[in-house]
Amino acid sequence: MALREIVKVGDEVLRKVSREVTVIDDRIRVLLDDMADTMYFENRGVGLAAPQVGVLKRIFVVDIGDGTGIHEFINPAISDMKGSVMSTEGCLSVPGKSGEVERPEELTIRALDRNGNPFELHATGFMAICICHENDHLDGILFIDKVRGTLDSN
Ligand code: NI
Repeated sequence: MALREIVKVGDEVLRKVSREVTVIDDRIRVLLDDMADTMYFENRGVGLAAPQVGVLKRIFVVDIGDGTGIHEFINPAISDMKGSVMSTEGCLSVPGKSGEVERPEELTIRALDRNGNPFELHATGFMAICICHENDHLDGILFIDKVRGTLDSN
């Protein structure tokens, strides 16, 4: 387990489309562990996507601090998005900035776990928001692309 350096906005790696993971092996599990360490080290981190540590693979982790712990997603696919909600978002790759972004109120996500087993999760509220934010990273999209109104400095 180790901390990895978080890539900041302006680095082209954040704008690339990540590739599907074809083999889930110990290298992927080490990456997941490192991503968790890195997210928890940043005390405001509630999610982290692999491109944010310079790895263009379709992987992200989320822990919204609701007691359910870390959620790991490999090759995620979001469906059944419903509703719309505005909330304030920030990003570890865009330090010191925040803004209002529209996201669905609920969604279904299918993904693989760290052992390669498929699972499905129905997410609402802040969990759904975080999943959408992290999933966007896999397609080179940052929350600043979707901000309504001004991008604020914290
Ligand atoms: Ni982010």
